[in-house]
Amino acid sequence: MTRRPIFAANWKMNLESSDIDKFMEDIVPVANNTSAEVVIFPPSVYLAQVAKAAGSKIRVGSQNHYWEKPGAFTGEISVNMVKDCGATYALAGHSERRHIFNESAEIVTRKAGVAQKEGLLPMICVGETLEEREAGETLDVLRSDIICSLRDVEANADVVIAYEPVWAIGTGLTCPPDKAQEAIGYIRSQLRELWGDVADEIRILYGGSVKPGNIAELMACQDIDGGLIGGASLKADSFAAIIENGTK
Ligand code: PGA
Repeated sequence: MTRRPIFAANWKMNLESSDIDKFMEDIVPVANNTSAEVVIFPPSVYLAQVAKAAGSKIRVGSQNHYWEKPGAFTGEISVNMVKDCGATYALAGHSERRHIFNESAEIVTRKAGVAQKEGLLPMICVGETLEEREAGETLDVLRSDIICSLRDVEANADVVIAYEPVWAIGTGLTCPPDKAQEAIGYIRSQLRELWGDVADEIRILYGGSVKPGNIAELMACQDIDGGLIGGASLKADSFAAIIENGTK
């Protein structure tokens, strides 16, 4: 089974208009030159700007959205607004949403489910905290994350999972490749239990301090199909080096 790799930039609450123009100018040729899929998750106010500059080889996604139809929800954006800006992906369940904004598993699956129903491709993040890893609970946490996050999502190859150990996000501590493979292989086995053979088609990414220097060894692991990249995706040259080193 060959799964097309994905390299996804999660800009979080970073970059502004003028940085974005320059970034896109530099990254479009890289995307045009790779067999991998390149995705950018900008802050939502820049979705349309990024989508306009993206060209046909870069896909764009929202970092967050609300599940309701348009209405009186101050501060929120709907799935249709995300699509209207030219985005095709929707992130759900990032650990910063879960931990800083207290998003429950119920909220995560509602967001992912609505995104899927309305034609966006959900990218769902799961992962254990340091305390959970040290207590030997990693696989239990992943099992429960997968079951809960997919409750409202239909079995489909067009779903992406990102395994992001919370302790590796933004810390410079990358999960050793054998441990990342163990977790991601386990996630695939859980997907198979839930959804059957389509599990072999689902892309599962690793995220957490991915850099140009560690992506190749992560991509060499059997079940790792790409990266979700935060800090190292803020500069076009390091994001480009990740795409290039990850697809060799
Ligand atoms: P990082 O972030 O690459 O800065 O660790 C990854 C993420 O949060 O998606």
